[in-house]
Parts: sequence; structure tokens; C-alpha cells
Amino acid sequence: IEAGFFTVFNRQENILENYDHYEERKLSDMHRYFAAEDIRQQMALANNEVIYRVYKKTAPLIAGELEQAVTVINPGQVNGEFFMTKGHYHINEKCSEVFFTLKGEGLLLLQKGQETKWLEMKPDVITYIPAGWGHRTINTSLSEPFVFIAFWPANAGHNYQKSLDEPFGRRVFFYNGSYIVSKVL
Ligand code: 6PG
Ligand code: NI
Repeated sequence: IEAGFFTVFNRQENILENYDHYEERKLSDMHRYFAAEDIRQQMALANNEVIYRVYKKTAPLIAGELEQAVTVINPGQVNGEFFMTKGHYHINEKCSEVFFTLKGEGLLLLQKGQETKWLEMKPDVITYIPAGWGHRTINTSLSEPFVFIAFWPANAGHNYQKSLDEPFGRRVFFYNGSYIVSKVL
């Protein structure tokens, strides 16, 4: 690793310049994440849009180092449910995380056991995810990408299975020109 580095968020293109790691999640990668699984499947077959992209420049994956990534969630819905990330818990449950919102508007959904919380995110809002909480972000805009940067301990790891086993207790849908956070029954 270089001794110090920088990246630049390009706000025209919505990409992180100098990234060394990129991942994207299309509709086809989101099997069973949305309430309307049948519609998601049809949409994946029809045009398979990208739901979100993650750009990062990696640090050594050891305790004491910090990872950072820019997430860009496109606007869109699956049968009224807003585009969102898969969501995950950290493998190391002692690891927290901070998000700084760069563009757009969205929600941060937090889950721990039976408890669900949500926070609004918009430019200049800094949200904190306490250790042990599952986290998912949702783009609640009808037209604009939702962009934020995340910072987390490099030894956190990502546990996606746990967010399937202990799913988020709320889903976010388009409602009346805005959004509604609805309870999963
Ligand atoms: C992390 C961050 C964040 C997250 C992306 C995509 O721990 O790495 O929470 O960078 O990975 O926003 O979300 P998913 O990892 O849930 O797909
Ligand atoms: Ni995380």
C-alpha cells in the first residue's frame, strides 16, 4: 500500500476517481431481496438495470486500518419498492461504520434483533451505524442518484447471510409522492 493516498469523487459522473475496486449489483443479482420477487425477475429479464455501484480504494484488511467506499444507488423501484442495497451485518460485530451523504436523498435502515430504526440521509448529513447493527441504504428519490461515502474498520468483514436470516423489519415504498416505511408482516 502507498504511504497515504487520495481519491476524488467526480460529482458530474458520479464515480470515484482512482478507485481500485468496483462492484455493481443489477436486478439479476438481487434474488429475493425485494418484496415482489416475481416483478424483480421480470425486470431482470427485460433490461436488467444496475441498482447500485460501489467504488473503493482498498486499505490493508487488518485491525487499525480503515476502509472507505462510495456507493451510488440509482433511482428506481421494483413494484413500488425503492432501489436499495442488499444490506449486511459486519462479521466482526464490534465494528461500527459512518456514512457521509454526498448527493440525493435516501434512508439508512438499521436492524438489531427485532429492533428496526431508520434515518434520513441527504447532502451533508453524517449517519452513524453502531457496532452490531445490520445496515441497508435506500434511494427515496424519483429521479436522482443517491450517493454516500462509508468509512469502516478494515477488519469488519461483510455478512450477507445474516441479513437474509435476520431480515430488515421494514420495507420502503413509493407513497403519495414520497416514501412510506412499512412494516414487514
Ligand atoms: C460496507 C459499507 C458499504 C456497503 C455498500 C453496498 O461495510 O462496505 O456498508 O460500503 O457495502 O453500500 O451495500 P451492501 O454491501 O449491503 O451491498
Ligand atoms: Ni457495512
